[in-house]
Amino acid sequence: MADPTRITVLISGSGSNLQAIINACNTAALPNTKVVRVISDRKDAYGLKRAEAAEIPTKYHGVLPYKKKYPDTSENPQWQEARRAYDADLAQLVLADNPEIIVCAGFMRIVSTAFLDPLKSSNVPIINLHPSLHGDLVGANCIKMAWEEFQAGKRTKTGIMIHYVIAEVDMGEPIVQEEFGMDGLKTLGELEERVHMHEHGLIVRGTKIAIEALKKDGKA
Ligand code: GAR
Repeated sequence: MADPTRITVLISGSGSNLQAIINACNTAALPNTKVVRVISDRKDAYGLKRAEAAEIPTKYHGVLPYKKKYPDTSENPQWQEARRAYDADLAQLVLADNPEIIVCAGFMRIVSTAFLDPLKSSNVPIINLHPSLHGDLVGANCIKMAWEEFQAGKRTKTGIMIHYVIAEVDMGEPIVQEEFGMDGLKTLGELEERVHMHEHGLIVRGTKIAIEALKKDGKA
């Protein structure tokens, strides 16, 4: 059998979607796959514990040292420098494991070309889970935004997608999307639960489709 497809997962939080990937590895849902590392930008991300429990190597890559090196002042805003330096190091960190695909599973940073370009040069695609349909809501807090629109009577449905990551936030080509109704929801927490329930299936499906596309292209 061919070597397993090497996956790196980037997280920031609970990691329930990471868990869905871990559970699916080497099943029919994600055949012959291996998570080679989980990287978090937050030290206390519970997803790091999930990875450790599954004996997957982890790395905390925090932004604080970069913010200290490029202090932000209103006269001289340097957050872009900090971001570029952080992203360039993240790319090297990721590539050191020779992954074939990167999955952002609740990774809450906007990535710049300093991250995207080295991965593109190495032919490693980056995919992201986003809790909205393509072109609908963008950025952080989309579940809350959908909830507020639902409460205001402005929407009855929302959705989620897996998409390729490009510099334009949440606008990369969708791989797979799922729309669902918001009927019967009484609280934001209930919407979050519904979103997560759909996400745990879709992230696995999207990862499988992206890996199949790689194999078709002869890259994995
Ligand atoms: C998920 O709901 C995911 O869609 C969202 O973060 C959550 C992570 O949950 N991502 C974004 O909003 C990205 N823009 P998890 O840590 O339990 O997997």
